[in-house]
Amino acid sequence: MFTATFAPNQSLLNNIPQDLFSAIATIKKELNAVILAHYYQEGDIQDIADYIGDSLGLSQQAASTDADVILFAGVHFMAETAKILNPNKLVLLPDLNAGCSLADSCPPDKFADFKAQYPEHLVISYINCSAEIKALSDIICTSSNAVKIVKQIPKNQGIIFAPDQNLGHYVIEQTGREMILWDGSCIVHETFSEKKIVQLKVQHPQAEILAHPECEMSILRHADYIGSTTALLKYVLQTTSKEFIIATEPGIIHQMEKDAPEKLFIPAPPQSNCACNQCPYMRLNTLEKVYLALKNRTPQINITESIRVKALKPIQKMLEMS
Ligand code: 13P
Ligand code: SF4
Repeated sequence: MFTATFAPNQSLLNNIPQDLFSAIATIKKELNAVILAHYYQEGDIQDIADYIGDSLGLSQQAASTDADVILFAGVHFMAETAKILNPNKLVLLPDLNAGCSLADSCPPDKFADFKAQYPEHLVISYINCSAEIKALSDIICTSSNAVKIVKQIPKNQGIIFAPDQNLGHYVIEQTGREMILWDGSCIVHETFSEKKIVQLKVQHPQAEILAHPECEMSILRHADYIGSTTALLKYVLQTTSKEFIIATEPGIIHQMEKDAPEKLFIPAPPQSNCACNQCPYMRLNTLEKVYLALKNRTPQINITESIRVKALKPIQKMLEMS
């Protein structure tokens, strides 16, 4: 029988301190660094963060921080947004491969051709897109302010909404506005099984179904409450319900369990027997990579200045309109 032994790289292990929590705290102080983490990060990363939030909260924090270094525990478009807002700060992403299927579903050259078909339309882009797409946009939005922003646009103004078609359909339903949608989507939020969610509800009849608006309409129509990750967290704290089925990335359950330990949170199951409800990009970041990024001041996020200046305007517009 063939057996393999795992031989860890000793030099790598020697470079990683045993107590990562205190090592990260020390290095953070030396660098005057701040750690911003999204709710989809693993629990340990959330626990060492200075601020945990949804995409809007994280952008607001990035816009107001006086730290010299921003370690962004999230995905590339989030760290890029922090760099767009802070060109003179060092912005670090623990793993440069932490991308986003939604951002990837909207290549800038194809989007520029698409936009050219509607020259009079205003472009509202979900923050889950590249700096190049932001530079082609008039206003950025997140899942927590998309409805609010679209409601502020004059009724006779045509709108292109990109790149998430599911969020786009949800905003159309909430506002009654017609919008031209780009057909992008998130692999995580499209993985939930309507059938399995309905079966879970039969087993837990008291449970409320909470869903992120990146989910498909077939899931959203079963939801008792729809909102961004921060909105879902606030909702479970404010309602008297004790059981919930959570149709978004299960990283959010870490904070829900911390803030409401007496309540039961059941992750909505994916269609196949996989862990596909976990974002494979978000989960590339680890505590070790956070430590190494701070220690080595790499991987850094850098953006061409001409793109940054164009991408900044629609982000600032969002911050004003939120
Ligand atoms: P929010 O952070 O707005 O809840 O969006 C979730 C998400 O998919 C981030 O990639
Ligand atoms: Fe992108 Fe979806 Fe992952 Fe969010 S959960 S980072 S939208 S792939």
